[in-house]
Amino acid sequence: MKKDIQISYEHFKNSSELNEIEKTLFKRAIQARENAYAPYSNFLVGCSVLLENGEIYSGNNQENAAYPSGLCAERTTLFWVAANFPDVKVKKIFVVGGPKEFHEKNPPIPPCGACRQSLIEYETKQNENIDLYFSSMNDEVVKVSSIKDLLPFYFDSTFL
Ligand code: THU
Repeated sequence: MKKDIQISYEHFKNSSELNEIEKTLFKRAIQARENAYAPYSNFLVGCSVLLENGEIYSGNNQENAAYPSGLCAERTTLFWVAANFPDVKVKKIFVVGGPKEFHEKNPPIPPCGACRQSLIEYETKQNENIDLYFSSMNDEVVKVSSIKDLLPFYFDSTFL
């Protein structure tokens, strides 16, 4: 029997359509992107995280001469947040990525597969959905209201 999975997302043509907290997160992710350490790919990614207490933290991708030892912006940021505030829920995550020499045709950059898996872990852990926004520097933004919308047939602790 053939079945379908439906996912939903919102598309913002530009950041003027975002509300104030979303705009702040976008700005913080852009700022964090500036500090990315990506000398091998020259692909810079910034990430900001809004916690339930209103605090915002940010991070970026960290590369390594031994390529697989590097880490994406999403996991660099989330792991730090989880390490320091294990009991505080994550409300929103904003990711902004693109080549160092950016041009306006660069599309919004979605989290890679490994990051989706890590993101799902924290959504399951806190038993509350996380809003995830991703964008390029061209001001176009995509929002999903759960990481599950990025990862159908996700694997998490409920299977163990
Ligand atoms: N990258 C991220 O930081 N996040 C993603 O979701 C996509 C990829 C980084 C990893 C690597 O440093 C560079 O972008 C090129 O893949």
